[in-house]
This record gives sequence, structure tokens and C-alpha cells, in this order.
Amino acid sequence: MVLQAIKYKRGELQILDQLKLPHAEVYDDIHTSTDAWHAIKEMRTRGAPAIAIVAALALAVEVETIARKNELSSVAEEVKVFIVEKLDYLVTSRPTAVNLADAARKLKKTVETVAAKDGASGASVKDAYVEAAEKMLVDDVSDNEAIGKHGADWIVSNTEAGKIGPVSVLTHCNTGSLATAGYGTALGVIRSVHANGALKHAFCTETRPYNQGSRLTAFELVHDNIPATMVTDSMAAALLRLRGKSDNIAAIVVGADRVAANGDTANKIGTYSLAINARQHGVKFLVAAPRTTIDLHTKTGADIVIEERPGKEVTLVKGPRHDGQSLDLNVVETVSIAANGINVWNPAFDVTPAELIDGIITEVGVVEKDADGVFRMEKVF
Ligand code: MRU
Repeated sequence: MVLQAIKYKRGELQILDQLKLPHAEVYDDIHTSTDAWHAIKEMRTRGAPAIAIVAALALAVEVETIARKNELSSVAEEVKVFIVEKLDYLVTSRPTAVNLADAARKLKKTVETVAAKDGASGASVKDAYVEAAEKMLVDDVSDNEAIGKHGADWIVSNTEAGKIGPVSVLTHCNTGSLATAGYGTALGVIRSVHANGALKHAFCTETRPYNQGSRLTAFELVHDNIPATMVTDSMAAALLRLRGKSDNIAAIVVGADRVAANGDTANKIGTYSLAINARQHGVKFLVAAPRTTIDLHTKTGADIVIEERPGKEVTLVKGPRHDGQSLDLNVVETVSIAANGINVWNPAFDVTPAELIDGIITEVGVVEKDADGVFRMEKVF
């Protein structure tokens, strides 16, 4: 089985429902931008690049369907306005990952340019939109493969552990095939180190509260037969202290939802703690992200809006029934794991300051700080 979060052919889109993983692989049909908005908000699809691509393709399916029913306006301006309004709506689904806003900005520019041309029609605007959205799907996979290669090379040649022999790497959240169009960013780096025969072991965190690590990253690691061990988020410091040398841990590699112009990085809650732990234990801390995640309009991490999600995502856990001996996949239960009435704060992301980051791995190479200790992210554009 090929891990595929997004299945697309012109006029048809399906997403793998990530709330049901790892126990059931169920694809949901996405027909419209409204379907996509709800799938993103409910986190049936998640991960910064996947969110952007699902949103873009959902609208492509919607306009294609309208055209096939012969209901598409022949007036270029009307189709442009329709697309721009839907893109503005899609961007409201989740605020922190910049990839969606970046995709919407580029797609708007495409339709505005085509609509302004002499002889433009509703159909030509629609076609330009659909082609641009489809290109995002294709580009994401090749970008991730390039990130994997740059990251793997960097880790082997820039860490003490890399000089000793096969390295271990710790990752957080899910940044793999399920969070992208394929291959993944930080998990793509681990895939690439493994493919080069240079991986001793991968470690993944559970990633509370939504367990993207235990449900999704662990699933991908098992699927790919990558030697791996899971720890709870709170075990990371002990892991580095007690097993850092014996497991030859070279780096912590994470993804990103938004990288500010100075390198400050918003990513899944818990990332900041890992960066502090890495610094304390002399392990490199790397961010792997395509350039669509770099937001030069956001000067520092202080300007990044952090999504806060419902407290019940912390207090309730959902999964198939387990009677202590075996799983019953037919019965899904929700159980409470907190005292009734307790207040909960549930920020979905945190910001890791650039000073704790050793390198930002993009599809065009690894950005390191300049001699003055500052990241200049504009260098990759
Ligand atoms: O809330 P999620 O699951 O969408 O958060 C995902 C992350 O934080 C990922 O690390 C990030 O989006 C990068 S995915 C390549």
C-alpha cells in the first residue's frame, strides 16, 4: 500500500480521514470548498502543505464540476470573483500554517492575471486555476524529495554523530506522506537518511494532545520498515541524556507551519521544548520546510497567530475499544482522561526562537545563520 493522504484526478478529490488512522483507512470525497473547509477545521486532513493542497484542489474540483454541468459563467471577471471569494473563505479554516495563505495568494494572482488578458473567458480563468492548483500537488512531492536529500547530507556531514557512523534522529508531530502530497519534510529527511543506509534509529514523540506522532508518524515508520521507537513528549530530555551517546543521536528534525523572516518557527506544540532540550544536550535542532512555509511578511515569531483549539482535545481520547488483551476495531470509544471541570489551555502550536535552530532545510538547500548569528530567509528566494 502506498501512503497517500490526497487522491486526485481532474474533477475528483479524496482525502484520507486522519482522525480514523491508524486503525482504519477511510477516504472521504471532497466536492467543494465547503467540504474542504470542514475537513481542514476538523483535522481530517492536516499538516501545513496538505492543508494548502487540499484547499486548492477542492476549489479546482468545484469549478470543474460547475463547468461540466454547463453552469460556469462565460464572463472571466465573474469566475475570477467567485474563485477569489472561495479562496478567502478557505484561508479562514486554520490560521497558523502559512502554506494555505501563500497558496491562496498565488492562485489569486494567477486568476487575476488571466482574467485581465484580452479575450479572457470564464473557461480560460477556470482552466488556469485548475492547472495552477494541480501543479501545487506535483511540486510538493519533488520539493520534499529535495528537502530529504539536503537534510540527510547535512546531518551526516555537519554533526559529530554523523562522523562516528549511522545516526539516530528524533522527530515530532507528523510531517510525512500524510502531512504533504507525499514523502514528507522532516520525516522525508529521516526517509532519506534511511535510504542512504545512514540511519541507526528513528525516534518519534507521541505528540500530545492530538497524537499525530503515535497515530500517524508511528504508522508511517512501521509502514516503511524504518527502525523506530516512540516516546511520550515528556521523555525527550531523558532520551537525549541517557541514550544520546549510545544511540548516536545526531539531531532533532521537525517540520514547520510558518517560518518568519528571522527564522523563528511556529510548529506543533512541544517543538519549543524539544529545541531547548537539543541545545542542553548538544544535539542539532533542524527545521525542514518547503519555501511555501517561509513567510517573509512575518518579521518575527511574535507576529504569528497561534491557533487555540477546544479543551476537549486534551481531556478526551478517542480510539477502538481495547479489553486489555486485544483491539475491537468495530467499536470506537471516547474516554475522558481528566478531572471533570478542570480548565484547559490548548494552543495547537508554539514558536521556537531562531537562536535555538541550527539550520532550516528547504528544497534549495539548508539555510544556516550568517556570521552575525542571524538567519536571512530571503536568501532562498
Ligand atoms: O495541527 P497539525 O497536525 O496540522 O500540525 C502539523 C504540524 O505542526 C506539522 O509539523 C507541520 O504542519 C509541518 S507538516 C509537513
